[in-house]
Amino acid sequence: MHGILAVAVLALSPSLFAAEDPSPQHIQWMKEQGELSGKIRKGVDVEASAKRMAAVFKEVEGFWAKRSAVGASTTREGQTAALALAKAAAAGDQAGIAAASKQIGGTCRTCHEAHREKISDTEYKIR
Ligand code: HEC
Repeated sequence: MHGILAVAVLALSPSLFAAEDPSPQHIQWMKEQGELSGKIRKGVDVEASAKRMAAVFKEVEGFWAKRSAVGASTTREGQTAALALAKAAAAGDQAGIAAASKQIGGTCRTCHEAHREKISDTEYKIR
């Protein structure tokens, strides 16, 4: 009886089982990217934050490279854009800062649309 019930529940909720718990490491990377992009938006430590963001994206690329084309391309583009932002910030190039920031935001959004699943107001999973 219980076995049959379990099979029925499994069959009814495939999406529940497709979402994967992110590792603590992945959550930590994302929280750091969130904090860095907040600083960048406010114009605080932009050059250093952008360099750190590129380094974090490189680590995140290692995780995604083999599992998803979107993950691989967005983490690579994110590194390029973050390095461009660091350069623009060092030069005080406001137009360059705006363009690179927009590009970075696009990489976050594209990957989140493809792979981030909101579970609750405070929790996300990988899909
Ligand atoms: C390669 C894909 C990918 C890219 C690129 C990416 N993210 Fe994420 N992000 C995810 C996934 C998947 C989750 C949900 C799993 C998790 O929380 O680790 C997530 C979750 C998050 C979270 C919530 C973390 C938590 O659990 O509290 C924040 C904040 C975040 N991302 C910020 C960013 C920012 C800012 C960028 C761009 C600078 C970015 N992400 C780029 C895939 C990505």
